[in-house]
Amino acid sequence: MRLILLGPPGAGKGTQAQRLVEKYSIPQLSTGDMLRAAVKAGTEVGQRAEAVMNAGKLVSDDIVNAIVSERIDEADCVNGFILDGYPRTLVQADAVEAMLKGKGIALDVVIELQVNDEVLVDRISGRYSCASCGTVYHDTSKKPAKDGVCDKCGSTEFKRRSDDQPDKVWTRLQAYYKETSPLIGYYYAKGLLKNVDGLQSIDDVAADIDRVLEKL
Ligand code: AP5
Repeated sequence: MRLILLGPPGAGKGTQAQRLVEKYSIPQLSTGDMLRAAVKAGTEVGQRAEAVMNAGKLVSDDIVNAIVSERIDEADCVNGFILDGYPRTLVQADAVEAMLKGKGIALDVVIELQVNDEVLVDRISGRYSCASCGTVYHDTSKKPAKDGVCDKCGSTEFKRRSDDQPDKVWTRLQAYYKETSPLIGYYYAKGLLKNVDGLQSIDDVAADIDRVLEKL
């Protein structure tokens, strides 16, 4: 199964992708995670991306297209993958189509998580994740079962993203509406778009996504 999770920052793409990884045994390809790893490792890509990400703007298409193309060639993607946060521009959408065509594969579905701006700001400002395995939590809507201990790996270290500060969130939302939201029409026209109400609880969003995937 090859799918794209589309939606604004904080819509729940990463949360749902982590669940789909467990359920379908396919990897989550998050360009945000890949770029943050490159920044942490101090690679050339990371050095080019760091300031752009901290400003809440989009990293250039050539950088993200290259890292996704390489990642899709890895062995764990042979049975499918979840694209989380990619593509994010029309240029990237054309690139992914050409990339997959060149590899003899195609997308199965694009799932758009629909939410509103007020909810996004609350979700982003309350987000934190496990510093060890990356499992995503929220101050009120998704706490670990045992306070201060990651459900998945037992780590007691957590972190918050530097671009989750309120002044950056608005820039990220603007980038979404200006550059990413045109992809909704792009994939609708290709007959690949399915909408899910992302304002529901995490479990209800997951159930709706499962219903979409079961019909494929
Ligand atoms: P990226 O890391 O992709 O961030 P994003 O798209 O802004 O999305 P988020 O990770 O903020 O949100 P999400 O939808 O995954 O929400 P989550 O599940 O965590 O990108 C970061 C930056 O990298 C970009 O700004 C850009 O600079 C660069 N970049 C990345 N990809 C790029 C690309 N393709 N091109 C160019 N630049 C790129 O949920 C949020 C919170 O809400 C969590 O705390 C969660 O627990 C909670 N939550 C989730 N669902 C629910 C629910 N249903 N109810 C209640 N709470 C919920």
